[in-house]
Amino acid sequence: MNMDVLVSLCKRRGFIFQSSEIYGGTGSCWDYGPLGVELKQNIKRVWWRDFVQARGDMVGLDASILMHATVWTASGHVDNFTDPMVDCRECKRRFRADQIDDMAWTHFCPATKGNKFTIAAGEPCKHCQARRTLCPECGKGELTPPRQFNLMFKTFMGPVEEDASVTYLRPETAQGIFVNFDNVLQAMRRKLPFGIAQVGKAFRNEITPGNFIFRTREFEQMEIEYFVNPLDTVDGRPADEALHDRWIEQCQAWFVRYGVDAARMKLHEHPRDELAHYSKRTVDILYEFPMGWSELMGVANRTDFDLKQHAKFSGKSLTWFDEERKQHIVPYVIEPSAGVDRALLAFLLEAYREEEVRGEKRVVLRFHPELAPVKIAVLPLLKKRGEIVARASELRDRLGRRWASVYDDTAAIGRLYRRQDEVGTPYCLTVDVKTVGDTEKGEVGDGKVTIRERDSMEQVRVPIEALEGVFSRLLDGGTAWPDVAAEFPRGDAEARG
Ligand code: GAP
Repeated sequence: MNMDVLVSLCKRRGFIFQSSEIYGGTGSCWDYGPLGVELKQNIKRVWWRDFVQARGDMVGLDASILMHATVWTASGHVDNFTDPMVDCRECKRRFRADQIDDMAWTHFCPATKGNKFTIAAGEPCKHCQARRTLCPECGKGELTPPRQFNLMFKTFMGPVEEDASVTYLRPETAQGIFVNFDNVLQAMRRKLPFGIAQVGKAFRNEITPGNFIFRTREFEQMEIEYFVNPLDTVDGRPADEALHDRWIEQCQAWFVRYGVDAARMKLHEHPRDELAHYSKRTVDILYEFPMGWSELMGVANRTDFDLKQHAKFSGKSLTWFDEERKQHIVPYVIEPSAGVDRALLAFLLEAYREEEVRGEKRVVLRFHPELAPVKIAVLPLLKKRGEIVARASELRDRLGRRWASVYDDTAAIGRLYRRQDEVGTPYCLTVDVKTVGDTEKGEVGDGKVTIRERDSMEQVRVPIEALEGVFSRLLDGGTAWPDVAAEFPRGDAEARG
């Protein structure tokens, strides 16, 4: 799937806009529009429900973004959270030194009177055999030697801009959990293993943001720090190692449950010499994004590194008392860390389909119903008939109290169905003449409406009083459409779409 097609759909249908677009936009920040914010909230809500509320071994936290500056010294971010970068002396563009050989490069070839070519990453020029030495973008400037660049955004806390008031926007939510470890332990009286989850914004001054919402400078994370007794064993293995594997499986299963094809995910084991400074083992779950296999989320074994560092720098004990062994221990930490925006991008890519229906192209987002931004669209078949419009509006208000619902009468029914398909609405509900009757002709309405399902486009005729029951089975109870549809007569061909 082409990312440009998705970017364009996201803008057109109100999912994602470029930040500050009227000022020319910022290349690295995106704004979630009316449908995007619903989709994003649904992802966070099901993640929280499945990994926090549904489990007895998890609790939640919402720590502040601005923290004591020493947190970032203790965590190692001040010294280690850097990328090597090089600058072009000519065009002033900045690149990550470790990514520059993976870029296509611009070349003015001396063997062809200086003609300009764009050459694939890592390849030599086929005319003069030269390899890239200059800036890959402008093809003219020399590059500076690599320098380490810290990715944290610096700011000042308080009214005086001096060294003593320097702090950082958090580059990960994890540290808010570590510094609250003892608070949560005391307040919630937990035994190991247990986890603390947090969802929130993180900020990184990425050198090369890009690929839409894949790499941005402001993004959201859904992180879990799962505290494990390193002296315990699980299935005959050290508990931290066994539970690490279990979390990897659970995270993959979660993405599959909400619509990601398992064949488009794979694991990447970080080689030992590339592990982050805190990690004993890190496994990334990769997804096949349009630009290639890239990290969707990571699951790291952070050992006792963070708790020990914060104990050292704060002078506070961050241990758990093991009653059985009668000793204080510093837990190990398994950290499943997912980006909300990357998860959203993967769910969008998975949902996108182009189909042919009766000779016409239909674009449909086949979202899992729990993720779909709008669950029900209520559509009047004829907007000139006051009773139809009134009944449809009343139904939207009624259903909208339980499920995200919209009312739309701005086009003919076929067009309205296509619009809802394109934003992934699983059910359309149509009010027609038969529903309300025709007083002029002395006909009474049958009090039934048509429900149309997005993927099969099947329609059934359902009594209005049964709607809440039907939608609660479909949207809350997980009952499959064919099971519900089988109980009602087929819908009206008049409203086909
Ligand atoms: N606490 C561990 C940690 O932050 P990470 O691998 O740097 O680990 C975790 O980040 C996840 O956060 C990534 O797998 C990705 O989903 C998301 N993420 C990281 N940097 C991002 C960025 N610049 N833009 C969007 N998402 C990002």
